[in-house]
Amino acid sequence: MTPPSPWRATVLTLFPEMFPGPLGVSLAGRALASGLWQLEARDIRASATDRHRSVDDTPAGGGPGMVLRADVLAAAIDATGIGPERPRLLMSPRGRPLTQTRVTELARGPGPLIVCGRFEGVDQRVIDGRGLEEVSIGDYVLSGGEIAALALIDACVRLLPGVMGKEASGTEESFSDGLLEYPQYTRPQLFEGVPIPAILTSGDHAKVAAWRRAESEALTAARRPDLWEKAANRGSGQKTPKNKTDG
Ligand code: ADE
Repeated sequence: MTPPSPWRATVLTLFPEMFPGPLGVSLAGRALASGLWQLEARDIRASATDRHRSVDDTPAGGGPGMVLRADVLAAAIDATGIGPERPRLLMSPRGRPLTQTRVTELARGPGPLIVCGRFEGVDQRVIDGRGLEEVSIGDYVLSGGEIAALALIDACVRLLPGVMGKEASGTEESFSDGLLEYPQYTRPQLFEGVPIPAILTSGDHAKVAAWRRAESEALTAARRPDLWEKAANRGSGQKTPKNKTDG
């Protein structure tokens, strides 16, 4: 039997030299080198057909900036040979916000095709015609989709089997139960006159767990009322956090 092919990200970009970039070092880099996942960055410009290898043009109807051409991008997508069996994403500030839930789904699948937009945007006909799912990594505008793609891939890769040393650290942290992570401490016991909270060194595991839960709830309520509302509706938190800390 042939072994299953590893999780793979195929990236379409005008700047393939931006990959693997930071994904070539540390956790993701070691996993890439050992074959736990694969990365292919393809140059959209290779699919340009005119003399000047142009990939963009002025927006129909006028306005500032340039728009990525539908014919060039569609040809670049088609040249990958990737069909509907893999998710097709377009990194864009107009997209649905990326969540840990979507990251988990993407990490469980075969790995996405990711189109990195540049300029003012991408011709709508290729978004519709090639079924691209627009994904945003936050309400701010980057100069292109590449850094957003790197963030998305990083979030997926750390969830792949065998990538993270300690399995627990993948599930116990921020967002896995819809709450932000509790504060952490380590030695020295006294830092600039501030001790580690006594409960954490008490050896009472039940009390430690309760303290962490209360801190998570208080932080989430203070910083992320949107997440807190959802957690409360799911029954994973109360309407008011058990203790109050500064957000
Ligand atoms: N491209 C530019 N800004 C972006 C964002 N916030 N998320 C995803 N892709 C983008």
